[in-house]
Amino acid sequence: MATGKRFRSGWVIVLSLGMMGAVQAADRPTPSADRGRHLLQTRAFNPPIWPKQIYENVWKSWGEPERPADFEQQFMERYGLHPSPFDNKGYPLGLREARSLLGVGVTTDCMICHGGSIFGQSYIGLGNASLDLQLLYEDMAHVMGRHRATPFPFTNVRGTTEAGAMAVFLFQLRDADLKLRPMIDLGLRADLCEDAPAWWLLKKKRTMYYTGSTNARSVRSIMQFMLTPLNSAEDVKKQEPAFADIQAFILSLEPPKYPLPIDRDLAQRGEKLFAKHCASCHGTYGENPTYPNKIIDLDLIGTDPTRAEGFTLEAKNHYDNSWFGQEVDAEGRRMETYAHRGYQAPPLDGVWATAPYLHNGSVPTLYHLLNSASRPRIFTRSYRTGIEDYDAKLVGWKVQVLDAPPPESAPPAQRRRVYDTTQPGRGNQGHTFGDKLSDEERFALIEYLKTL
Ligand code: HEC
Ligand code: HEC
Repeated sequence: MATGKRFRSGWVIVLSLGMMGAVQAADRPTPSADRGRHLLQTRAFNPPIWPKQIYENVWKSWGEPERPADFEQQFMERYGLHPSPFDNKGYPLGLREARSLLGVGVTTDCMICHGGSIFGQSYIGLGNASLDLQLLYEDMAHVMGRHRATPFPFTNVRGTTEAGAMAVFLFQLRDADLKLRPMIDLGLRADLCEDAPAWWLLKKKRTMYYTGSTNARSVRSIMQFMLTPLNSAEDVKKQEPAFADIQAFILSLEPPKYPLPIDRDLAQRGEKLFAKHCASCHGTYGENPTYPNKIIDLDLIGTDPTRAEGFTLEAKNHYDNSWFGQEVDAEGRRMETYAHRGYQAPPLDGVWATAPYLHNGSVPTLYHLLNSASRPRIFTRSYRTGIEDYDAKLVGWKVQVLDAPPPESAPPAQRRRVYDTTQPGRGNQGHTFGDKLSDEERFALIEYLKTL
């Protein structure tokens, strides 16, 4: 796998080519959050990936002599999926039926990565921190009698995905007008280990994605997963109004409230510490909140650089030159994209529910985030999301620390259950802003973070 050229430090590309390819936004109905919710809950935007029979028979890859009575439950546990909070025809959140000329099949939707659960409640927009997408594809391929499940690893470690690589791969197959073409090399690399961000944060952001690379009001950008080769260029483009509705729905989401008791006095002390040590990057909360939308250079933030350096200039240029790059904002100006060598300091609303932390999910709790020396190096967890799996003191997921990763000979799915921070893209270094605090101060800060 080529790694390609990297962006040079501090290189910012601002595209302002005016009205080129402008779409008449005025012709469009006002986006509707209700319609967006309905579309997400009912519409398959992609054709079937697997025939329905394969889904029904996937237990044959589990070493079971017959279909387990609790097939649905085992299915969710094995792949890290969550019960659907709406009527989803018996499928877990993230899967749905789709039709093609060949019949009815099963496909994935946005919520396979952007649907999660905590304390027995599922939420659209909570990042899925349990998913092993690779195992799902491998088991389905096994039952279909195929050797190769995916063109590159979709998951290197459970709870993260190679979502960025998937987007680059799909663009490699498309020309600027989104027509299919023989694959070109845009420097695909699949070691970014990304933790899906919570959707309810988008409304505060001016730029989105971990590096702040894209205008946060871009509709086209969230259509990248429609580029599977079975969708034509027209299939993709004509869904833009539907995705405007989906974006309106995403912008309407609110974070869930911390459901356990909060020590208000301690939280108040934490609020003062937050104002002093954290607010300059993460903003202020409560009435009249502010959000500075800062992108922090790698040299200062010091977290794993792989994601920030992981997209090539070729990939960015191809995106900018394609239909995706021709989108205009409400004033008719072409939406900019940026090549920042750093990470955006995210808003922290609902942060109690979004462990693990950092863009690569390398830090299991808020305490570990605020005390970098204490961060576990190699660890595993249940990948369940019940109250018994939650560390209410450190705030995040309970982990079991290991001395060493499983041997190379262990089954891949077992190896993916272990987060090894010594591996590429998985470093847990950096963000040392809590290191000089005392534990007393850290727990006050954590108490405050529960209120956001
Ligand atoms: C394979 C997993 C996966 C799927 C499927 C997926 N996403 Fe994402 N999404 C991610 C990851 C990971 C990120 C962070 C990417 C980055 O910054 O590099 C992300 C980022 C986003 C963001 C930006 C959030 C922010 O605050 O920066 C939006 C909006 C979004 N996705 C919407 C969607 C929509 C809509 C769909 C369905 C069409 C979708 N995603 C499908 C994994 C996924
Ligand atoms: C200089 C700017 C800066 C300061 C100061 C700062 N942060 Fe951050 N913070 C960031 C950036 C940038 C990220 C994202 C880094 C990454 O994902 O690699 C981040 C990530 C986080 C996250 C993880 C969010 C998630 O969902 O993964 C938390 C929690 C957090 N910061 C809390 C704090 C607290 C509490 C303080 C004060 C002690 C603080 N930060 C101070 C810039 C800052």
